[in-house]
Amino acid sequence: MPNADSSQLDVLIIGAGIAGLAAATALRHHNVTILEQSRLKEEVGAAIHLGPNAAKIAMEWGLDLNNLNSPETQWYHELGHDGRTHFKIPIFARKEFGAPWLLNHRVDLHNELRRLATTEDGPGKPAVIRTASRVAEVQDAETGKVTLADGEVLSADVIVAADGIHSIGRTAVLGQKLVANRSGHSAYRALIPRERLLENPRALAILDGDEKGMGLTTFMGSDRRLVAYPCRKGTLLNIVAIVPDSEAESSTEEWQVLGDPEKLLDSFKDFCEDAKFILRAAPGCNLWQLREQDPLPTWTKGRVILIGDAAHAMLPHQGQGGGQAIEDAEALGVVFPPSTPSSAVPERLELAQKLRYERATRIQSYSREKALGPKPGEKVVNAQEHAHYNFGYAGARDWAAKQNIELPASA
Ligand SMILES: Cc1cc2nc3c(=O)[nH]c(=O)nc-3n(C[C@H](O)[C@H](O)[C@H](O)COP(=O)(O)OP(=O)(O)OC[C@H]3O[C@@H](n4cnc5c(N)ncnc54)[C@H](O)[C@@H]3O)c2cc1C
Ligand SMILES: *[C@@H]1O[C@H](CO)[C@@H](O)[C@H](O)[C@H]1NC(C)=O
Ligand SMILES: *[C@@H]1O[C@H](CO)[C@@H](O)[C@H](O)[C@H]1NC(C)=O
Repeated sequence: MPNADSSQLDVLIIGAGIAGLAAATALRHHNVTILEQSRLKEEVGAAIHLGPNAAKIAMEWGLDLNNLNSPETQWYHELGHDGRTHFKIPIFARKEFGAPWLLNHRVDLHNELRRLATTEDGPGKPAVIRTASRVAEVQDAETGKVTLADGEVLSADVIVAADGIHSIGRTAVLGQKLVANRSGHSAYRALIPRERLLENPRALAILDGDEKGMGLTTFMGSDRRLVAYPCRKGTLLNIVAIVPDSEAESSTEEWQVLGDPEKLLDSFKDFCEDAKFILRAAPGCNLWQLREQDPLPTWTKGRVILIGDAAHAMLPHQGQGGGQAIEDAEALGVVFPPSTPSSAVPERLELAQKLRYERATRIQSYSREKALGPKPGEKVVNAQEHAHYNFGYAGARDWAAKQNIELPASA
């Protein structure tokens, strides 16, 4: 049945991750329902940083920094595996890019995006989240029909598949199932409470920051690295330790699998004492295999579009996966102003892809080619070198103007 209010489209979003919640927020002027397979209790206990490109968009939506308690990156410090400083550079995210570079606890970011999507006092109307609602398949992309695991069939003007790296929406759009390739690296993750770092002043300083504030620290080895940054007001130190797959046979692509702290330490046995102290301080760790995804031939078919990891899963080396998901979501808001006719949906989804494909694919390929552990004789290129491209983004309208892409007149 068509939507009773002709200024609104019915939108079904598959997945209430960062991409899905952000899309729901960007589309609050339409009639949005999110279908989420889980019961949505807790996000994975880990941190996620958001560059100013994404923070700016989320702040325009009303992101409340007081709810996040996220330190802002004021510097980036790279050391060798031996603990000697390569460089420490100041970051002026607010001044240069107009928004902070936020170091978030995933649970806090997720909760805050959920608040933006569902709060009564936002623009338009709150999105409805249906939990424990797994979509079994996108039955028909052209007519916008999905089938839930319990057999219920739902239809909508727009289907946004924000269902992550194992996306079933992607299967419908591409007409085949894709499995991302192994990248050759795995990542251990842990959150370390401040109390466990008190005995080592250098480790504690990575958490507490310096007179300029807080920041990101990387101990860079030739084929492995340890990245550490504070989150939640500096009460927790987030660490990501990237190692060659060959040293982490037990790793899988699932997020919740526990890693072996002994093996983790063993992989970093040649690193300096401070790095090893930090690794030993971890109360446990998760381990997962980093996968890489070739750019897809298309993100859209009929009334379905892929966003976030479903469209362009990327390696984490630039910390842009969540950020690109938020940018995708913002672009959907731009291509679907109020009173968009349902008949225009397929072409508007093509437009959304046109707005987003080049940039997301470029960031995806930076994350893969440049930042992956170096081939012999190759230098590790760090995220900083792409900071201007990554961070200097001012939303889909600005992008369209610069690329001469015509946008629909907003109602
Ligand atoms: C090691 C690592 C570190 C990272 N660090 C950063 C970082 O610092 N900064 C950053 O920006 N990004 C980072 N990322 C990437 C980032 O986490 C993702 O890119 C981001 O969360 C976007 O995910 P998403 O919402 O598209 O998918 P997901 O987070 O995977 O969410 C998908 C949602 O869809 C639901 N779902 C799936 N299938 C179905 C179905 N059939 N029916 C109903 N619901 C379904 C899932 O339950 C889930 O809630 C990192 C990733 C990794 C692996
Ligand atoms: C909004 O979408 C839901 C779910 O698809 C539907 O049940 C409801 O009738 C729609 N609301 C309006 C005003 O059309
Ligand atoms: C990824 O794997 C597929 C087969 O599964 C293969 O055809 C493709 O070349 C691989 N891509 C890369 C970049 O290795």
